[in-house]
Amino acid sequence: MKRALLIGVAIGVTGLVLAAVIAGPQMLAGYRFMSALDSHYARYDADVGTWPQPQDTCNACHGASGQSQNEQYPSLAGQQASYLQTQLKAFAEGKRQSAQMEPLAATLTDDQIASLAQYFARQAPLRTDTPAADERLSAEGQASAAARGCSACHGSDFMGGAAGPRLAGQGQAYLLSQLLAFKQGTRTDPSGAMNATAGLLSPAEAQALAHYLAGLAAASR
Ligand code: HEC
Ligand code: HEC
Repeated sequence: MKRALLIGVAIGVTGLVLAAVIAGPQMLAGYRFMSALDSHYARYDADVGTWPQPQDTCNACHGASGQSQNEQYPSLAGQQASYLQTQLKAFAEGKRQSAQMEPLAATLTDDQIASLAQYFARQAPLRTDTPAADERLSAEGQASAAARGCSACHGSDFMGGAAGPRLAGQGQAYLLSQLLAFKQGTRTDPSGAMNATAGLLSPAEAQALAHYLAGLAAASR
């Protein structure tokens, strides 16, 4: 009777040891995952407040922290806050057209627009995509940008400034679509500068500019 009990205990202990050996690494990985998640949320809370926040709805198209991974969608990360704010208001008032942005921007309050702009402006920007290198096209784009004085408003590193938004490292397809929109007048720059400039560009020159600008590194400030 006593021996049966001892054997039973021995089997139980062996089972527990085995379970710990087999499940231990998973439990440890699970623990590490949970604590990584906790520190992620702690950083998020410190940056923007408790989840969820309005900017979470933007990430589906504009990428995590507004860093786009898709050349069709502009990156908001590291863009000038005043520029982001003006564009959101323009969408909300139907002055800038976009089937995706107009209805969304119209639901935002002025305070939300201001805090979204501040939030995205302080995120570190990266290059959106890496277009297949075409050195001839890049060189043409660079020469065109120099000849037309684009950096006067967009900054010597094309990271933007008071007079114009960041272009460096934006998606090639997005940059081209905007240059053509200014040229055709479907997007209007209130200062008139971009409609005048883009009006001078042939489609081939706009293509070269978009290729060159998309390939530039988005420097952090
Ligand atoms: C369903 C996709 C989608 C969602 C969600 C979305 N956007 Fe956009 N956004 C776009 C597209 C597409 C454009 C480019 C429009 C164009 O072609 O002019 C754009 C453009 C913008 C621009 C102009 C950027 C520039 O460089 O001129 C801003 C600012 C912007 N979005 C902010 C936001 C914010 C803030 C949110 C969340 C509240 C958001 N977007 C959510 C698709 C989206
Ligand atoms: C005189 C100043 C000025 C010059 C020169 C200028 N830009 Fe701009 N650019 C602007 C302003 C201002 C805007 C924002 C317009 C708006 O609010 O809609 C803009 C917007 C843009 C955009 C859209 C960015 C976005 O995120 O949607 C692109 C692309 C662009 N410029 C490319 C160029 C290129 C390429 C050149 C040279 C061929 C150039 N710009 C020259 C002032 C300028």
